[in-house]
Amino acid sequence: MSMSSVLVRHSVAAALLLLAGAAFAQAPAQAPAQDAPKNLKVLPKDWTRPQVINVMQNFTAALGVGCEYCHVEKEGAPPDFASDDKKEKDRARAMMKIATDLNAALPTALGEPADQLTRVGCITCHRGVPEPKQIGEILSKTSKDKGFAAASSQYTELKTKYYGAQAYDFSEQGLIATARPLIAQNRQDEAIQFLQLNLTLFPKSAASYVTIAQAQQGKKDNAAAIESLQKALAIDPKNAQATRMLGQLQPKK
Ligand code: HEC
Ligand code: HEC
Repeated sequence: MSMSSVLVRHSVAAALLLLAGAAFAQAPAQAPAQDAPKNLKVLPKDWTRPQVINVMQNFTAALGVGCEYCHVEKEGAPPDFASDDKKEKDRARAMMKIATDLNAALPTALGEPADQLTRVGCITCHRGVPEPKQIGEILSKTSKDKGFAAASSQYTELKTKYYGAQAYDFSEQGLIATARPLIAQNRQDEAIQFLQLNLTLFPKSAASYVTIAQAQQGKKDNAAAIESLQKALAIDPKNAQATRMLGQLQPKK
């Protein structure tokens, strides 16, 4: 092995250790154990099983899945961790490379030394879910495919399962961010439904009324828009956007 490839190998290993948030400083010099990993293509080939498992536990936490999400598990037999039969395992390998590349590119891109920058790990994007979609992307698709009622019960389901897990935004902003792109797509009625749902959860959400007014404006229903803006101002008299929109809708005589 040339010196430079040793260095590369070391920096990749270091990056992956950081990815794992692991405390291992260096691979311990050890005779290969019986259960030593046999099929490592991204992690250093000389890593011991405990080192690999440490990274794996980071994966399961970051994606909110079990080992069997990426590894073949047959009934009554121990999981075959070396097997590459599950496509998710290869996708995870691709993602490991992407995360490593991102971390390698950041110092040059931002002009700061690596140790001063946040490391991008699986959790940075995945936040406890295998498909790191925003709540709005999920609800917008369900609403389009199956209607608002299905999207509304999906919201409740996701909230029951993930509330407090930082996977999705269940704050006042989550459903507003769901509605905004719908207004741009001229799906005004759906946008209003999501915002009304938001108001049942956050009755004092002036921003929801302002966004409803935008959807109503999109429907050319200016009278309704004015009424919504007045509701926004009743909650938050200093709301600049509501004041501005109301000024445009009610030109001075
Ligand atoms: C998100 C996908 C994913 C999850 C979840 C996952 N693994 Fe892995 N696992 C991988 C990948 C990818 C490799 C191969 C890494 C490489 O090629 O360097 C691997 C390799 C391994 C290996 C080494 C196998 C060998 O012989 O080469 C072991 C052992 C292992 N995983 C155990 C686990 C355990 C235990 C869990 C649950 C705590 C788990 N994995 C969860 C993706 C995953
Ligand atoms: C920069 C953001 C980002 C980072 C970092 C990241 N991922 Fe991903 N990952 C994604 C996106 C986006 C997808 C595509 C999800 C979809 O199918 O819509 C994805 C998909 C996946 C999938 C396939 C899911 C499926 O069921 O098809 C796996 C497995 C995965 N990531 C594992 C990982 C692991 C393990 C890490 C850490 C080594 C990681 N990801 C880091 C953004 C990221």
